[in-house]
Amino acid sequence: MKHHPQPPLPFTTDSQLSVIARTYGTPLFVHSEESYLRYGREALDIPNAFGLAVRYAMKSNPHSAILKIFDRLGIHIDASSSYEVRRALAAGIAPGKIMLTGQETLQPQHVGELVEKGVIYCCTSLTQLKIYCELFAGSGQGVSIRVNPGLGSGHNNRTNTAGPAASFGIWRDYVPQAIEIASGHGLKITRIHTHVGSGSDWKIWEKAASMTLGIVQEFPDVTIVNLGGGYKIDRMDPEKSIDLQSVFSIIKRDFETFARETGRELYLEIEPGTYLSANSSLLLASVNDLVDTGAHGYRFIKTDASMTELLRPMTYGAQHPIRLLGKSGDTLRNYVVVGCCCESGDIFTVKEGDPETVDTVELPEADIGDTLAIMGAGAYGIAMSAKNYNSRPICAEAMIRSDGSHVLISRRQKLEELWAREFPV
Ligand SMILES: Cc1ncc(COP(=O)(O)O)c(C=O)c1O
Repeated sequence: MKHHPQPPLPFTTDSQLSVIARTYGTPLFVHSEESYLRYGREALDIPNAFGLAVRYAMKSNPHSAILKIFDRLGIHIDASSSYEVRRALAAGIAPGKIMLTGQETLQPQHVGELVEKGVIYCCTSLTQLKIYCELFAGSGQGVSIRVNPGLGSGHNNRTNTAGPAASFGIWRDYVPQAIEIASGHGLKITRIHTHVGSGSDWKIWEKAASMTLGIVQEFPDVTIVNLGGGYKIDRMDPEKSIDLQSVFSIIKRDFETFARETGRELYLEIEPGTYLSANSSLLLASVNDLVDTGAHGYRFIKTDASMTELLRPMTYGAQHPIRLLGKSGDTLRNYVVVGCCCESGDIFTVKEGDPETVDTVELPEADIGDTLAIMGAGAYGIAMSAKNYNSRPICAEAMIRSDGSHVLISRRQKLEELWAREFPV
């Protein structure tokens, strides 16, 4: 794991984080309102030809405080399950601002209730499309469908959400069936959704956009094109962020060309999750213990955080910058930083893209009681962690507000809550 020892903090200082750690305890996620606002504004500012909606992929971090920050900015919601829809509604998000694009095929009654409320339902399979069309036959409701355009750009099968090996969306060859199902019920397909995976390479995005526009050619009534999420943001060297301005300048040009050739002005939607949330939150953990495996082994920092807070290294071999708060870099050591679960894979420093292989990070000499900041943990951190494994209560979360003050936004789970829903035999 190559990164500069003591990588810089994104939105705060060592001393503020030390105060926050003392105030609320660790493990603790610390979010930054200002950072969410910054990335939100960047997304809203992308070049577009005929209008833009940004939807926050709330699965990356569904906390109501974050949903509200984005709502106030004018960002809408991409929900991936009916549960997320309910969570967004409970946070006060207007139904018309929520679009559900989910893998779960809901019962017709459930789809009907959501759509009657005003939630937009995007059909991701022919089965879902049939259910929707039967419910709303002849009603004039627009139909949204997710299409798998045949191109995927994720790094591996866990991040790839398009292409022949992905089950997401209606396979491109079945487009004629989709059109037939909708028109057979007197309905028009008005929104095409694609999501090709994740990346920063503008060529992939240009290809994805032009493939999507090629598909839109087959749908004369489509007025909205949703390009999904997957906009890469660098968490640490040598990762590269997508240049949203450049990529969307190219896509804007493609939309303009499409309009000149067809007379159709398409409205653009995007659904970033990672881009908006990844660098807006970090995980604070305390050094609980220091152990080593001898002269030819490793030095380990054992922390009080674990896979129950951050699973990405263990799942994807994801890299997160780690900083030891309040320490100078005079004496550096190579450490393996591990979690405290009784699970050999519970390691924060693994080889990039290879969770099976242990790696080290260079840090100042650590002492028991020190605090570590594990950065870039805002997207798919607390949202996707192995909650309650080893009967560990879900950790607390704090937010640094734009005025610099901090506040608790999730309390630590009480241990009794773990067995409160169990019944005796
Ligand atoms: C349909 C859809 N939209 C948005 C996203 C968000 O992706 P990211 O967090 O990489 O931006 C995903 C992620 O898989 C997705 O499948």
